[in-house]
Amino acid sequence: MTTKTFKAQAVATLLGTSGDTVRRDVNDAGIAVLRQDTAIKTRIFSIENIFELADYRAKKATKKRTKKAVTLTVYAPKGGVGKTTTAANLACLFALAGLKTLVIDLDFQSNLTLSFGYDSELSLEEAAEANLPADRCIEYHFGHLFPNWPGGSVSLDKVVKKPYGEHGPHLIPSDVTLDRLDTMLTYEALEGRNAETAINKLLKDARNGKLKDIDLSGYDIIMFDAAPAKNRMTRGALLASDYVLAPISLEKFSTKAISYLSSVLTEMDEQYSRCPELIIVGNFFDQNRPRVLNQLSTIRKAYENCWLEASIRRSEDFPKMLSSDEYELPLCLSKATSIGANDLRVVSEVLMKRMGVME
Ligand SMILES: Nc1ncnc2c1ncn2[C@@H]1O[C@H](COP(=O)(O)OP(=O)(O)OP(=O)(O)O)[C@@H](O)[C@H]1O
Ligand SMILES: [Mg+2]
Repeated sequence: MTTKTFKAQAVATLLGTSGDTVRRDVNDAGIAVLRQDTAIKTRIFSIENIFELADYRAKKATKKRTKKAVTLTVYAPKGGVGKTTTAANLACLFALAGLKTLVIDLDFQSNLTLSFGYDSELSLEEAAEANLPADRCIEYHFGHLFPNWPGGSVSLDKVVKKPYGEHGPHLIPSDVTLDRLDTMLTYEALEGRNAETAINKLLKDARNGKLKDIDLSGYDIIMFDAAPAKNRMTRGALLASDYVLAPISLEKFSTKAISYLSSVLTEMDEQYSRCPELIIVGNFFDQNRPRVLNQLSTIRKAYENCWLEASIRRSEDFPKMLSSDEYELPLCLSKATSIGANDLRVVSEVLMKRMGVME
């Protein structure tokens, strides 16, 4: 969707390699990259070219990847701590590392959907009037995949969006009607069915190829971006996940938010004999502030094994990005050499090792 183009050196930064290797690999892979219409004929890569190249490079280096498929929910019971920012960027970074990635917007506010350039309020008529492809509109969301969705379920290929092509992160978008999924799960609970395990069952069956219209077996990582609310969707996503990544801002109430989340997980474990492993990542991190260091030391003492040894610093690039013309590209793609992008890259590497998807 984006028309932004990248030169070989920028692609090299995104793929963590050299410009020469990019040029060699793109030739070997036979990827059709445009050339600038100038005497030098410099290659200009589209975002789709970059993810295609990432996929080619990952396939060449299969030894480094493990076959483990994981489900991860980005969640903290606190608003505005960077859940969506983290989820959008990690989805891109996982795909750049060659992992087949699906990210699911589980918040009816659809901020994640917007981060990938989709406008959840754009109607088909408006898109046609503005000469935009119909794919820019959101017709379906995660709720539509459920077999008992009111009005009938929809196949995965109709629901999923591929903002940067086949090899980039795939997205299940959301819009304001996603709220009905929570209502549906509440009705199920009232009827005596176990609504909290519904997401887990759907994912499990779809991963094992048991559902004709929903095949999730090809994904290495399925990630949810949850709303801060502790609703049935969030609990369902947590129960379906191997890991929960909780960004915290190390402000006054961070410890409270984490201890609350930790008690939710303990309860879940008691009730279902399973819960995701908690991983805490510092966001808006400022190591020069004593109060931040105090919070950090309290959290590390209380949740020693959960703290991720990489944090994301506070950076104006994040909010600036959202109000720029390039809002449809997460920061790690649009400003790959910025502080925020560098921090996120390190976080993604440490996280991939921690989850055992990358050696
Ligand atoms: N490291 C950072 N430095 C500066 N600004 C940041 C950082 N991380 C996120 N932000 C900004 O903070 C705001 C909230 O981020 P985001 O939407 O990701 O939070 P959230 O936890 O998903 O919020 P919600 O609870 O509403 O879903 C955004 O404007 C984002 O650009
Ligand atoms: Mg959010």
